[in-house]
Amino acid sequence: MLQHLITTQDLNLDSINEIIDKAIQYKQDINTPQTLLGKIIITIFFENSTRTLSSFEIAAKRLGAKVVRLDIHKSSTSKGETIADTASNINAMKPNAIIIRHRDAGAGNYLARYVSCPIINGGDGAHAHPTQALLDAMTMKLHFGDLNGKRIAIVGDIMNSRVATSGIDLFRRLGMKVTLVAPPHFQSLFNESDNLKKVDNIKSCIDDCDVIMSLRTQTERHNYQIYSSLKDYASLFCITKELIGDRDIIVLHPGPVHRNIDIDDEMLKDSRCKVLDQVSNGVFVRMAVLDKFANLAK
Ligand code: CP
Repeated sequence: MLQHLITTQDLNLDSINEIIDKAIQYKQDINTPQTLLGKIIITIFFENSTRTLSSFEIAAKRLGAKVVRLDIHKSSTSKGETIADTASNINAMKPNAIIIRHRDAGAGNYLARYVSCPIINGGDGAHAHPTQALLDAMTMKLHFGDLNGKRIAIVGDIMNSRVATSGIDLFRRLGMKVTLVAPPHFQSLFNESDNLKKVDNIKSCIDDCDVIMSLRTQTERHNYQIYSSLKDYASLFCITKELIGDRDIIVLHPGPVHRNIDIDDEMLKDSRCKVLDQVSNGVFVRMAVLDKFANLAK
């Protein structure tokens, strides 16, 4: 059966662990097996990206695949072609997988109806970003070994964050305890449970966490201007070196980081800050994902 990767829910726990372990193996391998030799991977990003687009393309190339990037500004969408027709036409060229990013939640699910190869979601609106959650889990696993019982505080604009939505699902399935730290207008609609708590300030949970994941305030998804200046937000939610002190906590952020709003310059330079490790690990996770999914289409 054709399988897509739209959300973390498309993966059972065995598949999640298999992808993370394979990514760790790829990171340790000196020679990369050419498991995608002769395969064609197409990337279609309707929304900007620094990390996800380039790491998917590097991952595909490292495994021996050829990559075709559809430059959306030069595509026929500007002449009125629907995104469903764009997907159908790209699919007719018989790629082995299509990686898509779109500003609208549900775009990946929608396009999956028009293709006969796996769709891999590189982020759709505030809905899902499954490979980000996988690379975050990989980064934490490399640091801690076992994630079971580890505590993560996710801080910031949770309501508008596809990274948070995917992470909340995946981290809890890996046995982690999640605390969502946000002002009421950014708080998640998820219900609290044994492994999911909601608080409105970081100081109330900082002594009970192993990981802090800071998020960007996603102003492009806000219907109105919430803060006159993001410095007002930062005064309460910026992860500073002063706040972390000498605690044994690692700091994550999916990027792009708003410096001194999400995380301050000093904390970004600290070895406990794993932001660039996340970026490096993203290539290996996407290699493992492509290996699993792009080999499904014959
Ligand atoms: N983390 C992430 O999705 O970054 P990009 O928007 O740069 O791809």
